[in-house]
Amino acid sequence: MTPARFSDQSAMPTVTMVGGGQLARMTHQAAIALGQRLRVLAENPDDPAAQVSPEVVLGSHTDLAALRKAAIGSHALTFDHEGAPTEHLEALVAEGVNVQPPPSALVFAQDKLAMRIKLSELGLPVPAFTAVTEVADAVRFGDEHGWPFVLKAVRGGYDGRGVWMPADAAETATIVTEQLARGVPLLAEAKVDLKRELSAMVARSPFGQAATWPVVETVQRNGQCAVVIAPAPDLAEAKATQAELLALNLAKELGVVGAMAVELFETQDGELLVNELAMRPHNSGHWGMDGARTGQFEQHLRAVLDYPLGDTSPLAPVTVMANILGAPVAPSMSMDERLHHLFARLPQAKVHMYGKSERPDRKIGHVNVLGDDVAVVREQAERAAHWMSHAVWTDGWDPHS
Ligand SMILES: Nc1ncnc2c1ncn2[C@@H]1O[C@H](COP(=O)(O)OP(=O)(O)OP(=O)(O)O)[C@@H](O)[C@H]1O
Ligand SMILES: [Mg+2]
Repeated sequence: MTPARFSDQSAMPTVTMVGGGQLARMTHQAAIALGQRLRVLAENPDDPAAQVSPEVVLGSHTDLAALRKAAIGSHALTFDHEGAPTEHLEALVAEGVNVQPPPSALVFAQDKLAMRIKLSELGLPVPAFTAVTEVADAVRFGDEHGWPFVLKAVRGGYDGRGVWMPADAAETATIVTEQLARGVPLLAEAKVDLKRELSAMVARSPFGQAATWPVVETVQRNGQCAVVIAPAPDLAEAKATQAELLALNLAKELGVVGAMAVELFETQDGELLVNELAMRPHNSGHWGMDGARTGQFEQHLRAVLDYPLGDTSPLAPVTVMANILGAPVAPSMSMDERLHHLFARLPQAKVHMYGKSERPDRKIGHVNVLGDDVAVVREQAERAAHWMSHAVWTDGWDPHS
């Protein structure tokens, strides 16, 4: 009888991800293919990644002891969100933990004011901005740069939460007073006259290798990403190259390790301005799970572990990603039945569900569709995503007639 063989878990790396959301869940998928283990620090056992990871440390990303527990014995510690306090991460680095991206880089994704200041110092194009420590700072900024302007929480905003566009001094006073009283530091920035929003994604390794994906267009609804088109339609090659070089240079300059999304505004006069940075897999990179030779989740793991990076070539002329956003009222048809109908109608749709319950506007999954024609592919992806959240076909088709 052959002796039983046990796999030696120390032979392949373990990566710890801080946060148990859908980004960690999809990173875990990539880790499986690479023979790695993804350990997650999650707040709740039913968080998207905690449902599937073999190693879950339950705890808060604001608790140094929990971070330490999650880090012990892992080859790299990385992130599904920006919430971990910089000083805790610096403490981990001092204790020898391989934190990637390093806190010295991550701070520019955590703190929008630090990011704006740093990017201006580097001579990169950003909207006019100022720190807001009292109502008068914000009102003066509005008077100088025009109303409405944009007020932002310096830390902790996501999906448009933490972004306000006050129209006058009275509205400004209400928002600033309330947020400062809650201890939320603020900044003001000029409202950009947008043609559209773009995202330039890059991944970089400690060795210094870097690779970009094609620049994409991101379509926001209610301040939240709804659709991503890869590559960005009708983007002049020179402009696309400019955006990719900006992302590459910034990654190098800041010492980024892992995936980074550079969210960009394209102005009405064709200028590119940096909106914000994310140093982790990002919603604007989800298309690459099906639409690129190497997607962002695998690339992020390769980068934080200092492996050579993968080929990022697109696999089709167009890929459209549409977020499945919870409907105002969850449909009575089960998610399982919705999926049956979707697959019957659109077999080409690639569906990724996050294991989250339905709540209005919550990101609960996404759909990727590949093809040749932007309008056709986009209609299919959006129709599929809307069906999954609402159980209604936007073209009026009735599954039971
Ligand atoms: N200065 C600006 N001018 C015009 N629109 C803006 C400006 N800043 C933000 N917006 C709009 O608000 C959206 C959300 O802003 P931002 O990306 O700063 O916030 P967030 O909540 O951190 O975003 P995310 O959804 O990426 O987590 C932007 O994608 C854009 O549509
Ligand atoms: Mg954003």
